[in-house]
Amino acid sequence: MATQNLKTVREGESELLVPDVAKPEEGEVFYHPDQALARDMSILVYRAYGYEVLDAFAGTGARSVRLVRNGVRVVANDISDRALEMTRQNATHNGVELPTIHNRAEKTIHSRLWEAVDLDPFGTPAPWVHCALLNTKKLLAVCATDTAALTGTYPRVSRRRYGFHSVRTPNYPEVATRALAGFVVREGAKLEVAAEPVFAHVYRHYIRVYFELHKGAGRCDALLKQMGEHHGVHPIWMGQLWKKELVRQMQEDAREAGLALGSKLTLKHLDLITGEVDFPQPYFHLHKLCKELGAPVRPMAEVLEKLDAVRTHFTPLGFRTRKSEDEVSAWLKS
Ligand SMILES: C[S@@+](CC[C@H](N)C(=O)[O-])C[C@H]1O[C@@H](n2cnc3c(N)ncnc32)[C@H](O)[C@@H]1O
Repeated sequence: MATQNLKTVREGESELLVPDVAKPEEGEVFYHPDQALARDMSILVYRAYGYEVLDAFAGTGARSVRLVRNGVRVVANDISDRALEMTRQNATHNGVELPTIHNRAEKTIHSRLWEAVDLDPFGTPAPWVHCALLNTKKLLAVCATDTAALTGTYPRVSRRRYGFHSVRTPNYPEVATRALAGFVVREGAKLEVAAEPVFAHVYRHYIRVYFELHKGAGRCDALLKQMGEHHGVHPIWMGQLWKKELVRQMQEDAREAGLALGSKLTLKHLDLITGEVDFPQPYFHLHKLCKELGAPVRPMAEVLEKLDAVRTHFTPLGFRTRKSEDEVSAWLKS
């Protein structure tokens, strides 16, 4: 096995040993600094619930080690012996105990019942969602990076992989999140497991959704009623993406831990999400909507004031409002 040169990077409270490569070769372990924000958020979510987490695709162990350092019980799994070796090195380097399993994620997931499972593979989590729903009692997190399949670039892949009709929309990051959420809700319903989205966020090409899991056909039916259509994309999750109480708890925890836990960017995204919670309608993209309407682009501050709107973490050019699309369009054209 070829050895990789390592470098150290700081992420929140941890110092991590990671491969010193810009672009990994096939089979090499890869560390992505862009995922730091998602790891910060996962620390806040898992701390709020307090469950033991199976990190089914541990990679360098960055998430697992950071979770353990923040008081979360974790089991780290990876198919790659090189990745697991790095995970163990990172655990030792950070002075934490971290049980590891060297196996295919699907086998480890099936080996017992887990309180929480985190699916963070390369590309799509779709192949593992069913087995994770069968073997997870409380909380499931899925991360997708196959954005082309979720944002209307490859409609045939959307249909095949996630079972929805996709169209490129101006607010595609949120629509992709809702498509991913909808897929998990429908997969859960087959097993009478109600997978209820409680937190979601997007950063660059990382789309992440967390689900509370509850048994019961009635609860599944109630979730399925919240599947719907948005700008020709269907069926996607049109219910809440965030559970208010969880976001409040994460905010409180983040404020107390401060930057020791995460980056300024994470806190900024969490602030934005806190504002978004009470606005269930998908966001509008100001520039794209104005272009479509042939209207001049108004300053964001004016938009926020006149439309009783808030910003969104999905894009700095987006806003959420309770006003209907017709009302928004009429005001922009006025
Ligand atoms: C995107 S990386 C994980 C990143 C990591 N969660 C983090 O936050 O840094 C994906 C990992 O999945 C592993 N992998 C790929 N297929 C797998 C499988 N079937 N079972 C378990 N691990 C797998 C790869 O070896 C790789 O380390």
